[in-house]
Formats: sequence, C-alpha cells, structure tokens
Amino acid sequence: MAVTGAVLVLYLVAHVVGNLKIFYGAEAFNDYAHWLRHVGEPAVPARTVLTLVEVVLAVSVILHMWSAVTLTRRASKARPVKYAARRKTQASGYAVHTMRYGGVVILLFIIWHLLDLTFATVNPAGPAGLPYDRLVQGFAPERWPVTLFYVVALVMLGLHLRHGVWSAFQTLGLANGRSYRPLKIVAVGLSLVLVLGFLSVPVAIAIGVIK
Ligand code: HEM
Repeated sequence: MAVTGAVLVLYLVAHVVGNLKIFYGAEAFNDYAHWLRHVGEPAVPARTVLTLVEVVLAVSVILHMWSAVTLTRRASKARPVKYAARRKTQASGYAVHTMRYGGVVILLFIIWHLLDLTFATVNPAGPAGLPYDRLVQGFAPERWPVTLFYVVALVMLGLHLRHGVWSAFQTLGLANGRSYRPLKIVAVGLSLVLVLGFLSVPVAIAIGVIK
C-alpha cells in the first residue's frame, strides 16, 4: 500500500504543478500539454514517456486497491470474532470510512476525469478541443454540478491522503518517539497543499478569474 501510494502521491505533485501552468495563460498551458506528449523526442518516439507514466499509474492504482482488499481480508481472518467492547482506533470507524468509501469516490472521479479531460467525450470542447479550452469549457459556470463533483472528490482525496501519508510513515517505522508530531503535520500539510492547488483551477474558472 505504502509503495504504490507513494508513486501515486508523486504523480499528484507533478500533476498539480502542471495544472497550475494554466495561470500563465492559454499558450503556456497548451505548450505544456504538447510537451507532455513529446518529452524525450527524438531519442524516443512521441508519447513514449507519457505511455510509461500511464502504465505505471494504472498498475499502481490496481495494486493499491488489491493491497487494500487483501489487507482487510487478512485482518478479519486474523480476528474473525468482533471485539466485545470495540475501541475506536485509527484503524476503525472514521478512517475506514474515509479510506474505503473515499477510495471508491476517488476511483469514480478518475473515471469521470479521464472521460472529461483526457478523452474529452463528456467535455463541451470535445476530443478536437485544445487542453486549455477543455478546462475552461469543462468548468464553465453553467457546468457547476461537474465543478461541485470535483470539489467533493478533492476533499475526499485530501482526507484519504492525510490518513494514507500518515499510515505510510507508520509502515516505514518513522512515526515513533519524538518524530510523531512533525510527521503528522507533514501529512496534513502535504494533503492541504495538494487539494488547494488542485481546487484553485476549477474554482478560478468557475468564478471567471480564468476565461
Ligand atoms: C481540479 C483538479 C484537476 C484538474 C484541473 C486536472 C486536469 C487534468 C488534465 C487537463 C488532464 C489531461 C492532460 C492532457 O492529456 O494533456 C488530466 C489528466 C489526468 N488526471 Fe487530472 N486534473 C485534476 C485532478 C486530478 C486528480 C485529483 C487525479 C487523481 C486522483 C487526476 C488524475 C489524472 C490522470 C490519471 C490523468 C491522465 C493522465 C494521462 O493521460 O496520462 N487528476 N488532468
């Protein structure tokens, strides 16, 4: 879980940095989207690096979900009888809801997101539209339900990341003794920066800052 989660977090950091290029204008953003498809040329054919990234991402998402299911099964096998007096720990209640159901919302979000901004089949600009136009038309004020879905999914992503990053620190044995509190702050800080960075784009378009 921790390794695939770390790969996905690295992708999110790169993705949010790329998205923020939209604040530099249409040309900068479209150039960046063009660069993504041509990075590595002429040493390797167009889309080689992007395809590699896509394969690593797809494998990471599948393994991440597979680990979640396997670990849950293993945990319930190890303790088939429920505790008589169940103590609410990090591994139950709130965390289970944000991780399990939040994970499902994030998965549904990724499917919609690919149809919207990668394949553009559900985007008003359509598959022939430029990346900048897809974003501006996709988050136009009248498409507020789509923007609202993004906001809900990104908040879920933030909660998922906060718990996930913290759990990864524990898995790696870093979260003990005096290092406990700073690592909690890192988990919350990283999640907040990512979510606010991602949110800034649809919100800026919806309120007309980016046209
Ligand atoms: C408001 C937030 C977001 C915006 C504005 C946004 C924007 C975009 C755009 C414009 C593309 C198409 C890039 C291109 O083909 O040129 C894209 C692709 C993608 N995004 Fe996002 N994104 C957001 C959040 C997310 C989040 C939170 C995730 C993951 C949880 C995500 C995962 C992906 C994936 C997997 C792709 C496909 C990458 C590929 O084609 O190789 N995005 N995004």
